[in-house]
Amino acid sequence: MRIPLIVANWKMNKTVPEALSFAGEFLPEVKDITGRDILIAPPFTALLSMAGMLKGSNVLLSAQDVFYEEKGAYTGQISASMLKDAGCEFVIIGHSERRQHFGETDGTVNKKTKAALKAGLKVILCIGETLDERNAGRTFEVTGAQLKEGLKEIDLSGIVIAYEPVWAIGTGVTAAPEQAEEAHSRIREDLRTLYGRQADETRILYGGSVTPENVDILMAQPDMDGALVGGASLKAVSFVRIVKYKKTGG
Ligand code: 13P
Repeated sequence: MRIPLIVANWKMNKTVPEALSFAGEFLPEVKDITGRDILIAPPFTALLSMAGMLKGSNVLLSAQDVFYEEKGAYTGQISASMLKDAGCEFVIIGHSERRQHFGETDGTVNKKTKAALKAGLKVILCIGETLDERNAGRTFEVTGAQLKEGLKEIDLSGIVIAYEPVWAIGTGVTAAPEQAEEAHSRIREDLRTLYGRQADETRILYGGSVTPENVDILMAQPDMDGALVGGASLKAVSFVRIVKYKKTGG
């Protein structure tokens, strides 16, 4: 049974007071929701205060990145045990913005994932093709390689996959529900090849311009196990509606 997981990825947005104000508005609206996991990934600076605010609620905390070494002379970096210590249950790894702007590779994704799991964190591992790769018909070659390399020597329990087509992130262009479903079912096939039946227990989230308007139809797809939401997660009212997506049974 795959429990749907809805994630707010705030990226480089919100000061501590802004994060706490969001939580104050958001938590009462979602407190009675059951059967769905809810996660907020604020910037590093807001993790600790958000952990205090979320304690005892049905909303969990995630970081947006981690470094793979345990400690040492790595100026500016944050280790997995530091994230655990700050109250995180999850960490997002391999987001396309990190691959694009900060030199993240499948190799570093693999190392970070191993370090996070070792520290007791769960991992949201992001994969997805660029527009050029899609237009060249290479979508599944790319996502397949990202999965295989990123997950090398890693057990699948503790892993959530996020399919985020790069061309749909922050652009207002959402993958059509059938397009997203095609990718998700193909990703699950690839996971089956690597892991057998465990693939059917693994959640695959969609990310890329998810909004209150399109979440219901996206979540109606059979292999859609949740959403990783950027822009539309920054306002409580909008993210509440996304968390409360309606089952349309499509
Ligand atoms: P947007 O929802 O702003 O397109 O961002 C998606 C994303 O990158 C979530 O991780």
